[in-house]
Amino acid sequence: MRQQTTPRHHAMRTLPLLLALAMGMTAATAAGGDAPAPDQRAAAAVAAMTLDEKIQTVFGYFSTDFKGTARPKDGVPFTAGFIAGVERLGIPHQQLTDAGMGVATQPSEQPRARTALPAGIATAASWNPALAYAGGAMIGQEARLSGHNVMLVGGVNLQREPRNGRNFEYAGEDPLLSGVMVGEAIRGVQSNHVVATVKHFAYNNQETGRTKVDVRIGDAAGRMSDLLAFQIAIERGDPGAVMCGYNLVNGFYACENDYLLNQVLKRDWGYKGYVMSDWGATHSTIPAALNGLDQQSGWPFDLSPYFNGALKEAVENGHVPPARLDDMARRILRAMYANGLMEHPVRVEPEKIDVAASAAVSQAAAEEGIVLLKNDKGLLPLTNTYTTIAIIGGHADVGVLSGGGSSQVYPAGGSPVPNEGPASFPGPTVYLPSSPLKALAARLHAKFVYHDGKDAAAAAKVAAGSDLAIVFATQWTAESLDQPDLSLPNRQDETIAAVAAAGKPTVVVLETGSPVTMPWLGAVDAVLAAWYPGSSGGEAIARVLTGEVDASGRLPATFPRSVAQLPRARVDGTGLPEAARFSTDYNIEGAAVGYKWFEKKGHQPLFAFGHGLSYTSFSYTGLSAKADGGAIAVRFKTANTGKRAGKAVPQVYVSKVGAGWEAPKRLGGWDKLALAPGQSGESRIGIDPRVLAVFDTRANQWRIAAGEYVVTLAEAADKPVATVKVRLPARAFAAGAR
Ligand code: BGC
Repeated sequence: MRQQTTPRHHAMRTLPLLLALAMGMTAATAAGGDAPAPDQRAAAAVAAMTLDEKIQTVFGYFSTDFKGTARPKDGVPFTAGFIAGVERLGIPHQQLTDAGMGVATQPSEQPRARTALPAGIATAASWNPALAYAGGAMIGQEARLSGHNVMLVGGVNLQREPRNGRNFEYAGEDPLLSGVMVGEAIRGVQSNHVVATVKHFAYNNQETGRTKVDVRIGDAAGRMSDLLAFQIAIERGDPGAVMCGYNLVNGFYACENDYLLNQVLKRDWGYKGYVMSDWGATHSTIPAALNGLDQQSGWPFDLSPYFNGALKEAVENGHVPPARLDDMARRILRAMYANGLMEHPVRVEPEKIDVAASAAVSQAAAEEGIVLLKNDKGLLPLTNTYTTIAIIGGHADVGVLSGGGSSQVYPAGGSPVPNEGPASFPGPTVYLPSSPLKALAARLHAKFVYHDGKDAAAAAKVAAGSDLAIVFATQWTAESLDQPDLSLPNRQDETIAAVAAAGKPTVVVLETGSPVTMPWLGAVDAVLAAWYPGSSGGEAIARVLTGEVDASGRLPATFPRSVAQLPRARVDGTGLPEAARFSTDYNIEGAAVGYKWFEKKGHQPLFAFGHGLSYTSFSYTGLSAKADGGAIAVRFKTANTGKRAGKAVPQVYVSKVGAGWEAPKRLGGWDKLALAPGQSGESRIGIDPRVLAVFDTRANQWRIAAGEYVVTLAEAADKPVATVKVRLPARAFAAGAR
């Protein structure tokens, strides 16, 4: 048996000092100075730990009774995870909870009621990083008051596949927008001394066969797309943890993928936190440990407790160097020290949650995330001119839809629509009790008539007897299930077409997790994409419909016209037996994800990336761009030229002919400005140099080609307003630099 690196007598002599360091108590702190750096404290703690304590730190349990195994006794019940602390070293338990929309509950008779943010895709649609931060800060606080110090927040998988059942948890198709918005959410969560976890690293972009699919993608294409989204989210948010995904990448499981974990994440990006596996995504002991996994999660999800006794034995036999186990433990402890988990212990005290304040945060995100896709004849905002308003479908009389799976947040009082969707995971379908109908009735003096929309002819009759019809169309999406196509389910297209044919002004409100097709689009007057709008979604929808707030969301993902426009006719793995292994080829589109693919192929989308109407109008002047420290600095002015207060989302795209880019243009930056009528504001945008570069795999560097770049100011990917040119010198910089 090989000895630990520190000889015993030395460890004994230095233990008190090490302990003091680990616990943050040095002469400096006693005198009121700064605590020692997290690196030092983590190193000191690891040096003081026994082999068993290190093993205990890298092996996580599911904190819910599962597969005949009882949850750990000190874990918060019905939650995602638990890792025992080391009391003598002042290391607390790690108490893990899902996820991006708020404090979730695992399958339980009595789920905890917590505040739900709108879906991640909705927050991304706000294009407002401050809202992403505020949302993260709110759910992080609810997590802390629920007894959690690790929150599995930070879903940033790109929307390569509009049929992916988890698109609602992510932030769309663009690496810059996704990275910034998710990075801000992570920063918000961690402002509560709660570790956040960016996930699912990497290319876990479909649910079909998610544990069997081998994603094929080249290094350069990945660095300029999915990996860039992670890189930006990590830089901005500095998450304590990264969760590796279920899938394989170029032949190796993501959780034992040397390229992803050791080379890209830890070497090139200099990531100092730890890698935790997704629940059931660890497949080995020695390869996983050597290839970069730092913590196995959620036992008994995996086939074997790889990082428990087997890892101890591998260390004792020298198959895994003791220094590697030290590194694993040190990374975990460093994340805990860096985020103040030792100084700010958590307790279960949900009574301290300020429910009204949380609701206000959720509502603000929902309001700015709702996208007005179409508004003919100025039908919206609604005025007080209707005698009877028909509200059709979507259970809009009682609530709004939410997405399913491990991220499910439950409302107080339970779902107002019981027994919908699958009885077990990822069901049931949960509605949040915020009724759009009631919120509208509180604002408009009209008679409201509700019809469930299930019978198209009957719904049309109700519409015919009203002066205005608002149809709520829903698409429930959930973890572990992809959508079969891009259509609204349950014949809702028929209902909408029939209602529109009744001839009354017709508005469609979509509550979906992903883009959907709209065969009835030409027949309706207005369409709102409200996504899953969260705990106060009904209020948010009503406020946008009535113009109490401007419609200021913009699409973070392209809405295709049909499946035929996508890189893959169907999701690979569809129809295969459960156990079948298969691959999917992301080299088809490479880095040309979403709008980039559409532009490269000349496809006209139904609604373009960045699209979204406002109730006012904006003009843009004075666009200028100059080379600035190897990147580009852009300036322009936006003015509100309409009669209502509103929020503009000017977008800056960049292009370079002949530079070997994956597509004609890339999003280089944006701004979000709140402007009163007549008011104007100036934007200054620094374009991230990586958005101007191509990744050179051989040199492991980014390269900006010398020459002329076109900077386009636009209202959407398909709506340019002005362009300028700027000349850049050649530049190369390291894979982890900017
Ligand atoms: C999901 C993760 C989640 C974990 C714990 C997995 O099934 O993919 O996103 O954090 O479960 O609940």
